[in-house]
Amino acid sequence: MSTSDADRWWHGGVFYQIYPRSFADTNHDGVGDLPGITAKLDYLADLGISGIWLSPVTVSPDRDWGYDVADYCGIDPGFGTLADLDTLVSEAGHRGIRILMDLVPNHTSDQHSWFVDARSGPDAAHRDWYVWAHPKPDGSPPNNWLSVFGGSAWELDEASGQYYLHNFEAQQPDLNWWSEDVRGAFDAIVRFWWDRGVSGFRIDVCNMMIKDAELRDNPPATEGDPLDQQLMGLRAVYNSDRPEAHDILQRWRTIADGYETPPLLIGETNVEQLTTLMEFYGDGRNELHGGFNFVFINANLEAEAMRRVVEDTEALLPEGAWPIWTGSNHDVSRLATRWAGGDVAKVRCALLILLTLRGTPFLYQGDEIGLTDGPIFQSDLHDAVGIRFWPYYKGRDPERTPMPWSNTPGGGFTSPGVTPWLPMGDPAACNVADQEADVDSVLAFTRRAIAGRRHSDDLAVGPYRSLPSPTGTWAYARGERTVVALNMSERAQPVEATGTIVLSTERTLEGTAVEGALTLAPWTGVVITS
Ligand code: GLC
Ligand code: CA
Repeated sequence: MSTSDADRWWHGGVFYQIYPRSFADTNHDGVGDLPGITAKLDYLADLGISGIWLSPVTVSPDRDWGYDVADYCGIDPGFGTLADLDTLVSEAGHRGIRILMDLVPNHTSDQHSWFVDARSGPDAAHRDWYVWAHPKPDGSPPNNWLSVFGGSAWELDEASGQYYLHNFEAQQPDLNWWSEDVRGAFDAIVRFWWDRGVSGFRIDVCNMMIKDAELRDNPPATEGDPLDQQLMGLRAVYNSDRPEAHDILQRWRTIADGYETPPLLIGETNVEQLTTLMEFYGDGRNELHGGFNFVFINANLEAEAMRRVVEDTEALLPEGAWPIWTGSNHDVSRLATRWAGGDVAKVRCALLILLTLRGTPFLYQGDEIGLTDGPIFQSDLHDAVGIRFWPYYKGRDPERTPMPWSNTPGGGFTSPGVTPWLPMGDPAACNVADQEADVDSVLAFTRRAIAGRRHSDDLAVGPYRSLPSPTGTWAYARGERTVVALNMSERAQPVEATGTIVLSTERTLEGTAVEGALTLAPWTGVVITS
């Protein structure tokens, strides 16, 4: 077993992503805030989590809801103050919960003072902190690169006649990571937060940070390319996925390793191939501690498909490296909708998988109660991407609707009478308070699963091994004495196991002794120890 004691807290732990705008509002403006998160720490401690990934709370004009940063070392007044953040970090620490912040290094807001200066003219001190280029002779953009959010990735700056690059919105100019000044500025930013007791970062689009130095045209997409690239017609190899991004991540790892308790670097490694994901782990010790596995996120909730991704991931990971498993985040439809179609039995199976694989699970707020996507009409839209592509793509607001804490006006998210920034949906259908009172709720199941994982060496850090099982089922061993078996099909199926059921999606099965074989009802999962 390669897990050192120092890593046990997060290898064996469960992380929880908070989208702060939608978690808990304490000052009655319909927007979640830092004091709201601090107020819910006892709930999170009872859930049993070890860490929080906080989506951005830094200063932002909210063109992309926090992912357009105007000051990397300041808290957005809408969320509170730096003192509120310090309070959250220390109060969480008292409960054994560490905080990861969200680092957005690919681009800033166009209102960041660096860009305001850069835009002031070709000789500005920060001009080459961003990616500028002359138009083609006919005045068109410098090359054929496209924005992930639609249209050309270049925006003309009328004053200077040059274009600047934006892989996302035009209000999110890309930083020029070839610049030593940019690198130095970010060294100071990561230290600023780590010195304050923040335990690491989730790193936004870390595969895109650096661009081809010659700004070469992207080649046409071909049939084997990912669907989004086929739709755009181009394979994004020159404005994305450049090998030099690894140097930057390794530089931060070196800084992290200089701390007594090294902070974690977890990347938003949104790549299509597991082999590409593995590159972000470096040699297993010198780059990211973990990268989100989008191949798994994008798989269907289907035994064979998921087992294959897990087996391939396990086989490809460098020695000593640790997987990260997720089913939902603020950019993709929630797992209860996307994977489970609202079926609670399927939600429980999905949670059982996430919480029993070898690796650190990241739950997204609401996953623990089986929360589905919220109802969003065109008039509710806040996400620029949804506004642009409605009705073909409704954007990311459905997975960002507020957390339903109770079946009350405002859902316990905000005060009665206050309109939340995004619609609540119907808190009667699914909320924390009702589930806390129900031993058979999804929340009760999630709590048992997390507690079971914390108390079992096998589940916390034991190796993963697939076991033979019928089509539509998935069985795996964790460590020496623990077996997980799931029936992910519509008919009853037998699985082989011997021992005692210590956890099940069907609570009444817990405590049952199993001798050799067990017939599982459709969409049922068990953990058995011998
Ligand atoms: C990441 C974020 C997403 C954001 C994008 C641009 O993918 O998760 O929310 O829009 O980066 O910053
Ligand atoms: Ca508020």
